Amino acid sequence: MADKNRTLYIEGMGCVKCEAKVKAALEAVEGVSKVIVSCKAGQANLVCAEEVADEALTAALSGFDSYKLTGMDDGNVRPESMERITTKEQAQKFIEEQVDLLQKQIGDGGVLLALSGGVDSSVVAALLIKAIGKQLTCIHVNHGLMRKGESEQVIDVFEKQLGANLIYIDATDRFLDKLAGVSDPENKRKIIGGEFIDVFDEEAAKLSGIGFLGQGTIYPDILESKDGIKAHHNVGGLPEEMKMELVEPVKLLFKDEVRVVGSALGLPDDMVNRQPFPGPGLGVRCPGAITRDRLNAVRECDAILREEFAKKGLAGKVWQYFTVVPDFKSTGIKNGKRTFDWPCIIRAINTTDVMEVTVEHFEPEFIDHLVNRIITEVPGINRVLIDYTPKPPATVEYE
Ligand code: XMP
Repeated sequence: MADKNRTLYIEGMGCVKCEAKVKAALEAVEGVSKVIVSCKAGQANLVCAEEVADEALTAALSGFDSYKLTGMDDGNVRPESMERITTKEQAQKFIEEQVDLLQKQIGDGGVLLALSGGVDSSVVAALLIKAIGKQLTCIHVNHGLMRKGESEQVIDVFEKQLGANLIYIDATDRFLDKLAGVSDPENKRKIIGGEFIDVFDEEAAKLSGIGFLGQGTIYPDILESKDGIKAHHNVGGLPEEMKMELVEPVKLLFKDEVRVVGSALGLPDDMVNRQPFPGPGLGVRCPGAITRDRLNAVRECDAILREEFAKKGLAGKVWQYFTVVPDFKSTGIKNGKRTFDWPCIIRAINTTDVMEVTVEHFEPEFIDHLVNRIITEVPGINRVLIDYTPKPPATVEYE
């Protein structure tokens, strides 16, 4: 019979003694194999056999007059009573509760986390470092499709500043060799996703004493997987034979709350306020077959765009902005010589749900400045175009 995860929300728990009593009462229910009780978080998380009825769990708690059971679910439902985290104080309270729960869940076990440097995995890493320190091992796979400076920032923040156990894998050649000559967008995505899982699994297999897998699942992932919009995913995939228990401390939070928690944990602003970045990275912004020189061009253009947006105060205001370097060339003149180079396309959009997007319009002087920097600083680019198309009909990304 399959295991089932249940979360019981309990009001009024205030001391360690209460925790022990509630834990013992729930563990006594037949079919319950694991109970983690936290008075800080006011909840009990259980692993139990599929057939354990809600009534049996309620009955186990009925002897405690001072604790009120306010709800029970599979741990993937955000309780109505849960306040939206908008302030540093709320974030600190959440961090305290989660650190307590994580320490209880993990004990002296080892946790593995795929750390991409995105907001969600970074916040989970920082929470886990606070809770269990060196028991966490982070793996950062650089697939060669990262933006400029991203892998360096992961190493700087997590290894140097927070003292994390970080395994850095530069798999650039491996990914780019596999992608060479592949122009079909779906194939490119499949290769990137598949290779990521392979690299991660190979590294994970070299470790021992790992019982848990950290994941940066957030509430929209759960809602969308329930609605069948997308498969519930965050890391490339769980190595099946490793039988690891999931650790998902931000799974009931919305993105804006994850950012507030990240700031309260001391992560740098540009990391917590990072714009969305697709898993296949710059690979989808280098449409067609990826070549190293064109990938380098898109990375340099993107770095200039981000730098200029930050200088102009647009970085936190515009939802997503990036560059694309398509696989066609046009004629030009540079330093009196004929060129035959790529164009750089700039796309900057605003949205709330990404189902529909509008475009950000630029001041003419700002456009001139961007164009000038890109054509003079980026090798291989002789033209800059601006994509002013909303979604629909155009998707945000080009592939
Ligand atoms: P589209 O192109 O579908 O993009 O309009 C909507 C949003 O999703 C992001 N995106 C991805 N995010 N993995 C991700 O994690 C992906 O494969 C992926 N493809 C698109 C895109 O950047 C935009 O914010």
